Amino acid sequence: MYKYLNIKHSPKLSGSIEISGAKNAALPIIASTILAKNDVTLTNVPEVADVKTLLKLFDLLGADYSFKNNILNINTNSIHSTTAVYEIVKTMRASILVLGPLLSRFKECKVSLPGGCAIGARPVDLHLKALDAMGADIKIEGGYIKASGKLRGADIIFDKITVTGTENIIMAATLAKGKTRIINAAKEPEVVQLCEILKDAGVEIEGISSNEIIINGTDGELLNFKKIEIIPDRIEAGTYLAAGAITNSKITLKKVIPTHLESVLVKFSEMGYKIEAKKDEITIFPANSIKPTNISTTEYPGFPTDMQAQFMAIATQANGVSIIEERLFENRFMHVPELNRLGADIKIQGKIATVYGAKELIGADVMATDLRASSALVLAALIAKGETNVHRIYHLFRGYEKLTQKFKALGANVELRDEPLP
Ligand code: EPZ
Repeated sequence: MYKYLNIKHSPKLSGSIEISGAKNAALPIIASTILAKNDVTLTNVPEVADVKTLLKLFDLLGADYSFKNNILNINTNSIHSTTAVYEIVKTMRASILVLGPLLSRFKECKVSLPGGCAIGARPVDLHLKALDAMGADIKIEGGYIKASGKLRGADIIFDKITVTGTENIIMAATLAKGKTRIINAAKEPEVVQLCEILKDAGVEIEGISSNEIIINGTDGELLNFKKIEIIPDRIEAGTYLAAGAITNSKITLKKVIPTHLESVLVKFSEMGYKIEAKKDEITIFPANSIKPTNISTTEYPGFPTDMQAQFMAIATQANGVSIIEERLFENRFMHVPELNRLGADIKIQGKIATVYGAKELIGADVMATDLRASSALVLAALIAKGETNVHRIYHLFRGYEKLTQKFKALGANVELRDEPLP
């Protein structure tokens, strides 16, 4: 049964919530357990659709695991297949993250090419070019990547900074023979945690959290993983702070790492909000007047593309005009027509969106298109007059754990309902 979110005007939020583990750290780290010889325990794993989809793939590969109460125990020694089928990969393109570890451990694998998605073509050419440089034989046949060969260390220079590309090559290099240098590597906190857990498992890695990572491969020697606690989700945290901002409320987030979203916190301050960050807590306070802002999305530690839609929703309430440039993806403005349905006034010119602020939003039926765009619609619905129904919210459940419960805990009037039968 399809669901939709009914959201009533929720002028003020209050209280505090706990942030869940980061989906985009859990996905590569689960993939990396293919490199382990022992049972691996991961805690603080978010129970979201994307994680469940990857675990479905692990089922098909033959891995053993149990997942409950955010604790995942996994053993990959029983893997008997190295094929990542289209049915799974088409629903979650991050499944491409099994390519590097499967090839590195089993010397051959078949992974469906991930299709594009709502936000863009999202090719994986940089992943494949790097594996080729490491000695893999790569063929594209029938929509599948067929990769084989014994990987050897190489110098990899990424033409563009790619998060999962960096993660795939880090994992491929781990069991390769010799040294791999990754130049122009992504530095997201999720990439850093992947490096840290591999280092803890005995891999020689230098340059962690820099844009040049050096890995001395174990030449096929499997790893002994330590217990892993997934880092908090910086984008989930930014999204709930944005809920506090758009309703001009005081709310507190617990179990966060403020330094992981520094560029986002600075942006809130620029818009007039007061931010109080402690060791693992962040509180946002109302702004006297919400100021317009200019945003240009860029790779970490710059302003994250995954927070662009949420800030666009806030900008509809700012006293002035905001300019938002989306530099990473070619089509990440799918939330604009939906926000305009609610009464926003946003114009798009190529990669630039111009947001005319101080608009009163009126509830309507709107449709989610991708994970972060959907969260922007929920934020706008909180302050829209009357009621808003957000449809196709399966996008939201891909990356936001206990979303309805968390919004209710902050005092929002949200209710999950069944779509009427067609
Ligand atoms: C990761 O996607 C995240 N997903 C995305 O989060 C995030 O938006 C993105 O990084 C950017 O921060 C995960 O970590 C699972 P990229 P990824 O490779 O790795 C181009 C979410 O909301 N590119 O860094 O797929 C690409 O087209 C998701 O959780 C190539 O051209 O992104 C894009 O323009 C959405 N060739 C740019 O690089 C390649 O081989 C950045 O993409 C690879 C990428």
